[in-house]
Amino acid sequence: MKNEIRLFPLILAAGLVLVAVGMFITVFFSNEIFPEYSPAHRGELVAMEAGCFSCHGTVDGLASPNPVPSTPLDGFRPVHSMFEDRQPLDELSQWIENGISDRRAASPEYLERRSRKTLKMPGYKQSLNPFELQDLKAYVALMQYRRSSREKGSEHRGEQLARQLACFTCHGELGQGGIENPASLKGYIPGFFGTDFRALTQNGDREDLRQWILDGRSEFFWNQGFAGFYPGQYFTERQAIQMPAYRDRISDEDLEILVDYLIELMELGPLDAEGLFKYRPVNPDR
Ligand code: HEC
Ligand code: HEC
Repeated sequence: MKNEIRLFPLILAAGLVLVAVGMFITVFFSNEIFPEYSPAHRGELVAMEAGCFSCHGTVDGLASPNPVPSTPLDGFRPVHSMFEDRQPLDELSQWIENGISDRRAASPEYLERRSRKTLKMPGYKQSLNPFELQDLKAYVALMQYRRSSREKGSEHRGEQLARQLACFTCHGELGQGGIENPASLKGYIPGFFGTDFRALTQNGDREDLRQWILDGRSEFFWNQGFAGFYPGQYFTERQAIQMPAYRDRISDEDLEILVDYLIELMELGPLDAEGLFKYRPVNPDR
């Protein structure tokens, strides 16, 4: 009985020490522990939870049929892709929040056609919170940009290179991340923004970036690693997807252009919908 009473403060003290250690680790290693997501990546998860893909199809996939009464069942068009046209931010917001754009809502012919279709775009203003709506717009805008840029090309040499060399395939469109990578440090391939990028490239150091591109890793990361005291090699060797080495696939001149471009993206930071439209405005005569 006596022993049990004395045990209590001991257990309490041990518990407090554990909590303190936990807090220490959380505060000082937050960059290593917590995942870092761009608005567009969070928006992709919102889109999955909001059912967007079942009507519109995935980025490159097939959309749902949209039957209209007394039309032969093979005679109607599927739901329009939500990525096909780049829309200005206000129009995109109207579609997502109200289920229709103001321009369309002002056209009686459109409303008549719409009323006959089985599937109508739902408005999400009530069912998603403002943060989810913001992220969703960032995602849809980024994917619309991706499609138009793939089809029509881009005038920006650095971006052209990044696309042609498949950098965005692994690092996300415009380096916005979100591609999973089993057994890697944080479970995903880092993007070209934020603390992950800065920690992995010594704050966007040019020589470090050249090494990443040419060798698929940087000396600093390989030997000193993310926090500066454990080798990145440990994680790199275990992760499923490896960064390719581009040594024989890129000219010296293109290498410098690509390095400039990575620094440009790093300085922009994670792109929300506003940031993307500012960075790459919608062509007014689209
Ligand atoms: C019940 C089916 C359905 C769901 C779910 C749905 N949509 Fe739609 N959406 C439509 C239809 C129908 C249209 C009108 C275009 C058409 O008739 O093909 C449309 C139009 C749009 C447009 C305008 C496309 C253009 O270029 O004209 C956008 C953008 C859009 N939806 C985004 C979304 C997003 C984002 C989500 C998820 C939050 C979503 N939609 C969920 C059916 C749906
Ligand atoms: C097959 C997938 C893949 C491709 C393609 C790829 N990378 Fe990577 N990249 C990775 C992975 C995985 C890492 C994480 C490295 C690690 O943990 O060892 C990485 C890390 C990096 C880093 C470190 C910093 C950071 O946050 O991303 C840079 C910079 C980088 N890559 C640039 C590029 C560039 C530029 C291209 C195109 C020329 C490219 N990568 C193509 C998979 C890829």
